[in-house]
Amino acid sequence: MLNDLQKEIIKLKEEKNATILAHNYQTGDIQEIADFIGDSLELCIKASEITDSPLVVFCGVDFMAETAAILNPDKKILIPDKNSECPMANMLPVEELRKAKKRYPDAAVVLYVNTLAEAKAEADILCTSANAVKVVESLDEDLILFGPDMNLAWHVQQQVDKEIIPVPENGHCYVHRMFNLHDMHALREKYPDADIMIHPESDPEVQEFADYVLSTGGMMRHVAESPKQTFIVGTEYDLVTRLRGEHPDKTFIPALDDAICENMKLHTLEKVKNSLLNEEFVVTVPEETAKEARKAIQRMLDVS
Ligand code: 13P
Ligand code: SF4
Repeated sequence: MLNDLQKEIIKLKEEKNATILAHNYQTGDIQEIADFIGDSLELCIKASEITDSPLVVFCGVDFMAETAAILNPDKKILIPDKNSECPMANMLPVEELRKAKKRYPDAAVVLYVNTLAEAKAEADILCTSANAVKVVESLDEDLILFGPDMNLAWHVQQQVDKEIIPVPENGHCYVHRMFNLHDMHALREKYPDADIMIHPESDPEVQEFADYVLSTGGMMRHVAESPKQTFIVGTEYDLVTRLRGEHPDKTFIPALDDAICENMKLHTLEKVKNSLLNEEFVVTVPEETAKEARKAIQRMLDVS
């Protein structure tokens, strides 16, 4: 049952012919009023497909809303809280990427979507955790500059015959680095029949221990297709909220209760309402940057 605030938001959304997109890490009350919930690749694809609404409220961190703005130059893209930034994206300033490109002039540049728009504009192609291996394999080059997540870089390196150079050396996500081997062993012992799913932003030893290394969208698909009853969920806490809502017959155990992305949680229902009401905060990317970044995003979408 929707509460009064949620009903108010839906009414406003319909009056303004707006679309609400939400990442899998948004709280349950925001998931309930979203038109579409997904991982970063699914949200990118959805953003490229929006044809019938002039206004998009993006409940996710800044790099995701920027990607939507790059793909929809004719639409107004709003973010409910303008401080919702991904710290990992800030770990790769464009100057550092340019230096790395000079050092490795023959390398292809593959950037995770978790990057700032200026860095995206310097990439040959983007990737998400759902398609990183496929993207790297699609390239002719055997030397790949890959950033900013060192753990996703490690994950890709295990599966391809190319040389992956992480840039920067230690880019990471503070949420996924909370998972540790000690907790994983304890969970395996307590739930021996469960599938352990881990996001590739987690540390290598945790990825090696897990049964499945998956993006958040990959986890949703795995649960839908698996005959298993119990799942350990090694990513941000609110993916568990979505899984529980869509699969009430299955059991989901968060690998860590406090794996919370505070940056994602800056959005609230109240702020979503204000965003629609006041058409704030508009996400813009200068066209010069957007033009280059769009090529790298489109190349990824073509590979996906
Ligand atoms: P997904 O692409 O798996 O949704 O991951 C995005 C993200 O920010 C993970 O922390
Ligand atoms: Fe960024 Fe990590 Fe939050 Fe994802 S979970 S948005 S990578 S800080």
